[in-house]
Amino acid sequence: MWWENKFLRLKNRKLYLNGKLATRVAEEFGTPLFVYSPAQIVANYARLEEAFSRHTALEIRICYAMKANFHRDILKLLRSQGAWIDAVSPGEVDEAVRAGFPGQRILFTGTSLSKEDISRVFNCDGVIVNVDALEQLELMREVRNSNFRSKKIRISVRWNPGVGRGFNPRVVTAGKRSPDRTPVKFGIEEKKVLPAFEKARSYGFIPVALHQHLGSGWVMEDYDSVAAAAGRMIQTAARLEKKGIHLEFLDFGGGFGPRYAKKQRLFPLEKYTRRICRQVAEAGLKLKALAVEPGKYLTADAGVLLLKVEYIKESYGQLFACVNGGTYNSVPRPAIYAQAYHEIVNCGRVNRGKISPVTVAGNLCETGDVFGKEIPMPVPKRGDILAVLHAGAYGRSMASHFNLRDIPREVFV
Ligand code: LLP
Repeated sequence: MWWENKFLRLKNRKLYLNGKLATRVAEEFGTPLFVYSPAQIVANYARLEEAFSRHTALEIRICYAMKANFHRDILKLLRSQGAWIDAVSPGEVDEAVRAGFPGQRILFTGTSLSKEDISRVFNCDGVIVNVDALEQLELMREVRNSNFRSKKIRISVRWNPGVGRGFNPRVVTAGKRSPDRTPVKFGIEEKKVLPAFEKARSYGFIPVALHQHLGSGWVMEDYDSVAAAAGRMIQTAARLEKKGIHLEFLDFGGGFGPRYAKKQRLFPLEKYTRRICRQVAEAGLKLKALAVEPGKYLTADAGVLLLKVEYIKESYGQLFACVNGGTYNSVPRPAIYAQAYHEIVNCGRVNRGKISPVTVAGNLCETGDVFGKEIPMPVPKRGDILAVLHAGAYGRSMASHFNLRDIPREVFV
């Protein structure tokens, strides 16, 4: 099948998770259940690192966007691979430290920060603080002057290049407005980038990087815009160098999508890395490193959610597989984002028997609580185990106790 990888395999029409029969795993641990694969995460990490290092001798900093999945064992695993962390709240910084990351390997990118937030982050030695607004710098100065006067604090500037790309308007994180007309709150507009660096320096901060994050879930169609925006960031860094702002690294943000649906064409990662490495070399920048901030690329296809079918309901000509979990408690993406698709397979007989459109309905009191709408599959039976694929990113991390339902357990295979 198109979704098979190191973790997910089909044998005799049954789904295996790292060589273990999925239905057995469900029996052993109960459902609903998240199952993750360390081997797949490591493979994704290695592929990304390789895509860069093939084209440059610069150090590659893969800063894992831990918002995608903050399970401590996943953080520890990525730390052992040499990853950095992209943290977006003081809570994430603290958790990264608990997972063993030194502050020097944490990049903090906040928004709407309070002085208390800033203070908590400054407390952690070595963290690089990504500045989202000139106005944020004022708060940072006040905090530094009151409690951290002699501390060397490195900063990065998050600019908004004026274009963004993402699979859904709500996750387009650059540009003036997102496609649904929401004004984009992130980053510093182009004309304020140099003033931001100058101001930061005059306040005693040490500028080390320029950063952008355009959005999430890129596919092939996003390539041209994304590559053009990366090129503009490289040019901007070159102009900054001329003005005496010498950067240690450029951070191109996250956004590489896994393949969630058969019809999606993957973002051409290799073409992208080749192009930006060449442009960095041509611009003659005196950088030490390049950085990216992948979230879903590393963990999405390394996780599934197993659910049990409680009964099959027929209503107005529709077939519903009524399962023992709710979207908001486990994999909220299909309930939140119109474009979020998750493949769902019947673990015991992946493609056996007559295929019919089945809507996989959760156990919450909202019409939108469906894991998938009219997904073609062999009609499940009571007691069957379904697997929601690509559930390793923005599943558990966005899950809530809505309706006072539990959040599923997580296990590793
Ligand atoms: N860096 C920054 C500053 C970000 O804001 C994000 C995600 C990332 C990196 C990682 O993006 P990724 O590589 O995972 O696409 N809840 C949505 C995704 C929201 C992403 C927001 N920012 C979802 O379920 O698809």
